[in-house]
Amino acid sequence: MQRFRSFLVVFLLGGFVAIQFAPVDRSNPRVLREIKWDSPETRELAKRACFDCHSNETVWPWYSKVAPVSWRVSGHVVDGRRHLNFSAWHYPNENYDEIVEVMEKGEMPLSDYLLLHGKAKLTPGETERLLQGLKATFAADPPLPRRPPEPDAAVVPADSSAAPADSVIASKGVPSDTTAAADGHEDHDH
Ligand code: HEC
Repeated sequence: MQRFRSFLVVFLLGGFVAIQFAPVDRSNPRVLREIKWDSPETRELAKRACFDCHSNETVWPWYSKVAPVSWRVSGHVVDGRRHLNFSAWHYPNENYDEIVEVMEKGEMPLSDYLLLHGKAKLTPGETERLLQGLKATFAADPPLPRRPPEPDAAVVPADSSAAPADSVIASKGVPSDTTAAADGHEDHDH
């Protein structure tokens, strides 16, 4: 038992050391084209609560250098910037409605991030001011659309939903050759 325990400790320590060598993206690309803020206060609130994952001015804390936590932090930053990057406003970005949605649901800033970044937590009043500020900011400097509109959604009229449903039911009522064969009830000629 004693031997097994020391083996386990060495094994885990070795593993911990080994994973430190896996490359992790902790880059801060240049600020390319920052959004034009409506006021310094809006920027200050966004910097406090959102910049670490939604800008190129990420502050990388010490634990972001220690695997496996570093993988999670880096993943959040890469993912976060892909959705919304206040430092790259010439690229497609999430729109204001998305921001309102995630803020009202309490999804942003991410909760595990807030555990370690108490100062990123906004009071309800500060959240309100950030949203008002972002509204004005986005109105004056709107983002490029992140996804092209779905071609299907644009073509199908909103009130035609009954027609496809009926045709599905109709086609189910008629047994086709393939289902008969799959049931194994086909006649065998001897
Ligand atoms: C710790 C990192 C982190 C912080 C801080 C953070 N976000 Fe995010 N954000 C993410 C990640 C990661 C995603 C991508 C989530 C996904 O793919 O579902 C994201 C996605 C989003 C999206 C797109 C939502 C969607 O479902 O597509 C919006 C909008 C957003 N964040 C707004 C904000 C705002 C506003 C703040 C500041 C109040 C903020 N975020 C703070 C990491 C962060």
